[in-house]
Amino acid sequence: MAEIRLDKLLANRSLYSRNDVKMILKKGAVKVDGITEYNGSRKINPDLQEVSCYGKKIIGGSHVYVLVNKPVGYICATEDKIHKTVLELVPDDLKIKGLFPAGRLDIDSTGLVLLTDDGELAHRMLSPKSHVPKYYLVKLAHTLQHDAIEKLAEGVVLSDKTICLPAQTQALQDNYALICLHEGKYHQVKRMFASLGNHVEFLHRVAIGGLVLPENLALGEHLEILHKDVEIMLKSESFQVVCEQIMKRFSSYWINKRL
Ligand code: URA
Repeated sequence: MAEIRLDKLLANRSLYSRNDVKMILKKGAVKVDGITEYNGSRKINPDLQEVSCYGKKIIGGSHVYVLVNKPVGYICATEDKIHKTVLELVPDDLKIKGLFPAGRLDIDSTGLVLLTDDGELAHRMLSPKSHVPKYYLVKLAHTLQHDAIEKLAEGVVLSDKTICLPAQTQALQDNYALICLHEGKYHQVKRMFASLGNHVEFLHRVAIGGLVLPENLALGEHLEILHKDVEIMLKSESFQVVCEQIMKRFSSYWINKRL
Protein backbone atom coordinates (compact mmCIF):
# COMPACT_ATOMS: atom_id res chain seq x y z
CA MET A 1 0.00 0.00 0.00
CA ALA A 2 1.27 3.47 -0.87
CA GLU A 3 2.77 5.79 1.71
CA ILE A 4 0.77 8.84 2.72
CA ARG A 5 1.63 12.05 4.58
CA LEU A 6 0.78 11.83 8.27
CA ASP A 7 -1.27 15.06 8.25
CA LYS A 8 -3.24 13.89 5.20
CA LEU A 9 -3.96 10.53 6.81
CA LEU A 10 -5.16 12.23 10.01
CA ALA A 11 -7.41 14.63 8.09
CA ASN A 12 -8.80 11.81 5.91
CA ARG A 13 -9.36 9.40 8.76
CA SER A 14 -11.02 11.73 11.25
CA LEU A 15 -13.45 14.61 11.32
CA TYR A 16 -10.54 17.06 11.96
CA SER A 17 -9.77 19.75 9.40
CA ARG A 18 -6.20 20.22 8.06
CA ASN A 19 -5.85 23.20 10.47
CA ASP A 20 -7.05 21.14 13.44
CA VAL A 21 -4.52 18.47 12.47
CA LYS A 22 -1.67 21.04 12.56
CA MET A 23 -2.68 22.06 16.11
CA ILE A 24 -3.03 18.46 17.26
CA LEU A 25 0.42 17.58 15.91
CA LYS A 26 1.93 20.65 17.62
CA LYS A 27 0.39 19.57 20.94
CA GLY A 28 2.15 16.20 20.68
CA ALA A 29 -1.13 14.28 20.62
CA VAL A 30 -0.14 12.09 17.67
CA LYS A 31 1.96 8.94 17.93
CA VAL A 32 3.38 6.72 15.20
CA ASP A 33 4.16 3.22 16.46
CA GLY A 34 3.97 4.55 20.02
CA ILE A 35 6.39 7.48 19.52
CA THR A 36 5.17 11.09 19.52
CA GLU A 37 5.41 12.63 16.07
CA TYR A 38 5.22 16.38 15.44
CA ASN A 39 6.02 16.37 11.75
CA GLY A 40 2.88 16.25 9.59
CA SER A 41 4.85 15.88 6.38
CA ARG A 42 6.35 12.55 7.48
CA LYS A 43 5.35 9.79 5.06
CA ILE A 44 3.93 6.68 6.69
CA ASN A 45 2.46 3.40 5.52
CA PRO A 46 -0.94 3.04 7.25
CA ASP A 47 -0.98 -0.70 6.59
CA LEU A 48 2.29 -1.28 8.43
CA GLN A 49 2.43 1.52 10.99
CA GLU A 50 0.06 2.27 13.83
CA VAL A 51 -1.04 5.86 14.19
CA SER A 52 -2.91 7.15 17.22
CA CYS A 53 -4.37 10.50 18.12
CA TYR A 54 -5.06 11.34 21.80
CA GLY A 55 -4.47 7.65 22.50
CA LYS A 56 -7.10 6.48 20.03
CA LYS A 57 -5.98 4.31 17.13
CA ILE A 58 -6.60 5.79 13.69
CA ILE A 59 -8.36 3.04 11.80
CA GLY A 60 -8.00 1.83 8.27
CA GLY A 61 -5.33 1.60 5.62
CA SER A 62 -5.43 4.02 2.72
CA HIS A 63 -9.22 3.58 2.57
CA VAL A 64 -12.00 2.48 4.88
CA TYR A 65 -14.49 -0.32 4.10
CA VAL A 66 -17.47 -0.98 6.34
CA LEU A 67 -20.19 -3.57 5.82
CA VAL A 68 -23.61 -2.82 7.23
CA ASN A 69 -26.67 -5.02 7.43
CA LYS A 70 -29.26 -2.42 6.51
CA PRO A 71 -32.59 -2.60 8.31
CA VAL A 72 -35.91 -1.41 6.85
CA GLY A 73 -36.39 2.37 7.15
CA TYR A 74 -32.86 3.47 6.22
CA ILE A 75 -31.90 4.91 2.86
CA CYS A 76 -28.62 4.46 1.00
CA ALA A 77 -27.50 8.10 0.96
CA THR A 78 -25.04 10.22 2.92
CA GLU A 79 -27.65 12.69 4.15
CA ASP A 80 -31.38 13.17 4.02
CA LYS A 81 -33.80 15.61 5.63
CA ILE A 82 -36.56 13.04 6.14
CA HIS A 83 -35.18 9.53 6.41
CA LYS A 84 -32.42 7.90 8.41
CA THR A 85 -29.36 7.08 6.30
CA VAL A 86 -27.07 4.04 6.38
CA LEU A 87 -24.28 6.34 7.60
CA GLU A 88 -26.14 6.57 10.90
CA LEU A 89 -25.44 2.86 11.40
CA VAL A 90 -21.69 3.57 11.63
CA PRO A 91 -20.00 4.83 14.84
CA ASP A 92 -18.37 8.27 14.76
CA ASP A 93 -14.77 6.99 14.72
CA LEU A 94 -15.44 5.17 11.44
CA LYS A 95 -17.46 8.01 9.95
CA ILE A 96 -14.57 9.53 8.03
CA LYS A 97 -14.83 12.19 5.35
CA GLY A 98 -15.99 10.94 1.98
CA LEU A 99 -17.64 7.75 3.30
CA PHE A 100 -20.58 6.82 1.10
CA PRO A 101 -22.71 3.75 0.32
CA ALA A 102 -21.39 1.94 -2.77
CA GLY A 103 -24.71 0.89 -4.25
CA ARG A 104 -28.31 1.14 -3.21
CA LEU A 105 -31.03 -0.84 -1.54
CA ASP A 106 -34.61 0.43 -1.34
CA ILE A 107 -35.87 1.85 1.96
CA ASP A 108 -37.96 -1.30 2.53
CA SER A 109 -35.13 -3.69 1.52
CA THR A 110 -32.57 -5.08 3.95
CA GLY A 111 -29.11 -6.60 3.85
CA LEU A 112 -25.55 -6.07 2.70
CA VAL A 113 -24.34 -2.55 1.89
CA LEU A 114 -20.68 -1.56 1.58
CA LEU A 115 -19.69 1.90 2.82
CA THR A 116 -16.34 3.20 1.66
CA ASP A 117 -14.36 6.30 0.76
CA ASP A 118 -12.67 4.38 -2.08
CA GLY A 119 -14.28 5.81 -5.22
CA GLU A 120 -12.20 3.68 -7.55
CA LEU A 121 -13.26 0.44 -5.85
CA ALA A 122 -16.92 1.57 -5.80
CA HIS A 123 -16.73 2.29 -9.51
CA ARG A 124 -15.29 -1.17 -10.21
CA MET A 125 -18.05 -2.72 -8.10
CA LEU A 126 -20.93 -0.80 -9.62
CA SER A 127 -19.91 -0.29 -13.23
CA PRO A 128 -22.18 -2.30 -15.57
CA LYS A 129 -19.01 -3.33 -17.45
CA SER A 130 -17.68 -5.12 -14.35
CA HIS A 131 -20.85 -7.23 -14.04
CA VAL A 132 -20.23 -7.82 -10.32
CA PRO A 133 -23.09 -10.14 -9.28
CA LYS A 134 -25.45 -9.18 -6.43
CA TYR A 135 -27.44 -11.91 -4.70
CA TYR A 136 -30.88 -11.29 -3.20
CA LEU A 137 -32.95 -13.56 -1.00
CA VAL A 138 -36.60 -12.78 -1.70
CA LYS A 139 -39.91 -13.87 -0.27
CA LEU A 140 -42.44 -14.08 -3.08
CA ALA A 141 -46.23 -13.94 -2.97
CA HIS A 142 -46.47 -17.00 -5.27
CA THR A 143 -44.28 -20.05 -5.76
CA LEU A 144 -41.58 -19.56 -8.37
CA GLN A 145 -42.46 -21.87 -11.24
CA HIS A 146 -40.02 -23.51 -13.64
CA ASP A 147 -41.16 -21.41 -16.64
CA ALA A 148 -40.53 -18.18 -14.67
CA ILE A 149 -37.00 -19.41 -13.83
CA GLU A 150 -36.43 -20.01 -17.55
CA LYS A 151 -37.76 -16.56 -18.50
CA LEU A 152 -35.50 -14.91 -15.91
CA ALA A 153 -32.54 -16.87 -17.30
CA GLU A 154 -33.32 -15.54 -20.80
CA GLY A 155 -33.75 -11.93 -19.60
CA VAL A 156 -37.19 -10.51 -18.84
CA VAL A 157 -38.68 -7.32 -20.28
CA LEU A 158 -40.04 -4.87 -17.69
CA SER A 159 -43.38 -3.03 -18.00
CA ASP A 160 -41.60 0.06 -19.40
CA LYS A 161 -39.92 -2.17 -22.08
CA THR A 162 -36.54 -2.18 -20.31
CA ILE A 163 -34.69 -5.38 -21.23
CA CYS A 164 -32.93 -7.07 -18.30
CA LEU A 165 -29.78 -9.13 -18.52
CA PRO A 166 -30.24 -12.87 -17.90
CA ALA A 167 -30.58 -13.64 -14.19
CA GLN A 168 -30.01 -16.96 -12.43
CA THR A 169 -32.52 -17.95 -9.77
CA GLN A 170 -33.01 -20.78 -7.37
CA ALA A 171 -36.41 -21.59 -5.84
CA LEU A 172 -36.32 -22.40 -2.13
CA GLN A 173 -39.00 -23.70 0.17
CA ASP A 174 -42.06 -21.65 1.25
CA ASN A 175 -41.95 -19.20 -1.70
CA TYR A 176 -38.41 -18.04 -0.93
CA ALA A 177 -35.96 -17.71 -3.81
CA LEU A 178 -32.41 -16.57 -4.52
CA ILE A 179 -31.80 -14.34 -7.51
CA CYS A 180 -28.47 -13.12 -8.88
CA LEU A 181 -28.29 -9.88 -10.91
CA HIS A 182 -25.36 -8.44 -12.84
CA GLU A 183 -26.84 -4.96 -13.10
CA GLY A 184 -28.70 -2.54 -10.84
CA LYS A 185 -31.70 -0.83 -12.36
CA TYR A 186 -34.23 1.03 -10.23
CA HIS A 187 -36.34 -1.43 -8.13
CA GLN A 188 -35.05 -4.10 -10.50
CA VAL A 189 -35.74 -7.29 -8.56
CA LYS A 190 -39.26 -6.19 -7.63
CA ARG A 191 -40.00 -5.15 -11.21
CA MET A 192 -38.58 -8.37 -12.67
CA PHE A 193 -40.83 -10.55 -10.55
CA ALA A 194 -43.78 -8.20 -11.19
CA SER A 195 -43.25 -8.65 -14.94
CA LEU A 196 -43.87 -12.37 -14.34
CA GLY A 197 -47.07 -11.78 -12.37
CA ASN A 198 -45.37 -12.37 -9.02
CA HIS A 199 -44.72 -9.97 -6.12
CA VAL A 200 -41.67 -9.49 -3.87
CA GLU A 201 -42.85 -9.32 -0.27
CA PHE A 202 -39.40 -8.96 1.23
CA LEU A 203 -35.91 -8.49 -0.21
CA HIS A 204 -32.63 -9.09 1.61
CA ARG A 205 -29.25 -8.66 -0.16
CA VAL A 206 -27.09 -11.55 0.96
CA ALA A 207 -23.96 -11.28 -1.18
CA ILE A 208 -21.99 -9.04 -3.51
CA GLY A 209 -19.61 -10.97 -5.76
CA GLY A 210 -17.98 -13.65 -3.60
CA LEU A 211 -18.58 -11.74 -0.35
CA VAL A 212 -21.50 -13.19 1.61
CA LEU A 213 -23.09 -11.16 4.43
CA PRO A 214 -21.62 -12.54 7.69
CA GLU A 215 -24.26 -14.64 9.45
CA ASN A 216 -23.61 -13.07 12.85
CA LEU A 217 -23.99 -9.49 11.58
CA ALA A 218 -27.49 -8.65 12.80
CA LEU A 219 -29.72 -6.06 11.16
CA GLY A 220 -28.37 -2.59 11.98
CA GLU A 221 -24.87 -3.86 12.83
CA HIS A 222 -21.64 -2.90 11.08
CA LEU A 223 -18.26 -4.55 10.48
CA GLU A 224 -15.04 -2.92 9.31
CA ILE A 225 -13.28 -5.07 6.72
CA LEU A 226 -9.93 -4.89 4.94
CA HIS A 227 -9.12 -4.13 1.33
CA LYS A 228 -8.26 -7.79 0.73
CA ASP A 229 -11.79 -8.78 1.90
CA VAL A 230 -13.30 -6.26 -0.50
CA GLU A 231 -11.33 -7.80 -3.34
CA ILE A 232 -13.39 -10.98 -2.73
CA MET A 233 -16.39 -8.97 -3.89
CA LEU A 234 -14.76 -8.49 -7.25
CA LYS A 235 -13.72 -12.12 -7.68
CA SER A 236 -16.09 -14.04 -9.89
CA GLU A 237 -17.37 -17.16 -8.16
CA SER A 238 -19.97 -19.36 -9.84
CA PHE A 239 -23.65 -18.95 -8.96
CA GLN A 240 -23.68 -22.47 -7.47
CA VAL A 241 -20.66 -21.83 -5.21
CA VAL A 242 -22.07 -18.57 -3.80
CA CYS A 243 -25.57 -20.07 -3.45
CA GLU A 244 -24.17 -22.95 -1.41
CA GLN A 245 -22.49 -20.50 0.98
CA ILE A 246 -25.67 -18.44 1.22
CA MET A 247 -27.77 -21.54 1.91
CA LYS A 248 -25.39 -22.63 4.68
CA ARG A 249 -25.58 -19.24 6.37
CA PHE A 250 -29.17 -18.26 5.76
CA SER A 251 -31.28 -21.42 5.64
CA SER A 252 -32.54 -20.54 9.14
CA TYR A 253 -34.06 -17.41 7.61
CA TRP A 254 -36.61 -19.27 5.57
CA ILE A 255 -36.88 -22.30 7.85
CA ASN A 256 -37.74 -20.02 10.81
CA LYS A 257 -39.52 -17.55 8.50
CA ARG A 258 -37.38 -14.64 9.79
CA LEU A 259 -37.78 -12.65 6.60
N1 URA B 1 -33.95 -4.58 -6.46
C1 URA B 1 -35.02 -4.03 -5.87
O1 URA B 1 -36.12 -4.08 -6.38
N2 URA B 1 -34.82 -3.40 -4.69
C2 URA B 1 -33.64 -3.34 -4.05
O2 URA B 1 -33.54 -2.78 -2.97
C3 URA B 1 -32.53 -3.93 -4.68
C4 URA B 1 -32.70 -4.55 -5.89
